[in-house]
Amino acid sequence: MYFLPEKLDDYIVSHSEEEPELLQQLTRETYQKILQPIMLSGPYQGRVLSMISKLIRPKTILELGTFTGYATLCLAEGLQGEGEIDTIDVNEELVDFQRKYFNKSNYGKQIFQHLGNALDIIPTLDKTFDLVFIDADKPNYVNYFNLIIDKLNSGGIILSDNVLWHGKVIEPINEKDNSTKAVLEFNTLLKNDKRIETVLLPIRDGLTISRKI
Ligand SMILES: C[S@@+](CC[C@H](N)C(=O)[O-])C[C@H]1O[C@@H](n2cnc3c(N)ncnc32)[C@H](O)[C@@H]1O
Repeated sequence: MYFLPEKLDDYIVSHSEEEPELLQQLTRETYQKILQPIMLSGPYQGRVLSMISKLIRPKTILELGTFTGYATLCLAEGLQGEGEIDTIDVNEELVDFQRKYFNKSNYGKQIFQHLGNALDIIPTLDKTFDLVFIDADKPNYVNYFNLIIDKLNSGGIILSDNVLWHGKVIEPINEKDNSTKAVLEFNTLLKNDKRIETVLLPIRDGLTISRKI
């Protein structure tokens, strides 16, 4: 979905970093073999994630919603030498696909896959994080925030994806649309929570940056 006119969007993409070859391969195979390939972060947002991670230089990253590992690899580009990324997904059919691409990258040994519901796995992670990417099921975004905020280091960053939810955040609400209600609640929480400062960026489907004070 384009929020900007398509031509302007094309111009922006063509004047940003190129997508690495490995991620092009991963994208092709995702489209050939995996349901709902549209869930990939994609080339432009991927370069944004990579750039943010390189600016932060995190030692520890947590990703909620691995899918085929596209964003995992983008975020890993900014890791410090001994840094680690923990990534969680509930879909066991994706595990081997993810590992194949993680091992083809320079970050295979730094990426730790967790299979299961993120709500159950987050409390078992005995570490704190410099960067968290929330990109799993929308109805649990508020729960994810509440579970991770105490595991986020001071100055740490939470990136939250799909916060414009295809523009539905400004449409009249359908009472049965739990995902839109959840995204609205989440956006309000990020705006009002005094432990963080937040900027919502109109990148792709909306990407919020929140910094722990
Ligand atoms: C939008 S995709 C993630 C895309 C990926 N971060 C990227 O940018 O390429 C969402 C993923 O969240 C996973 N997911 C959904 N609910 C989950 C849950 N409760 N716990 C863990 N993963 C979940 C889905 O299986 C799916 O792979």
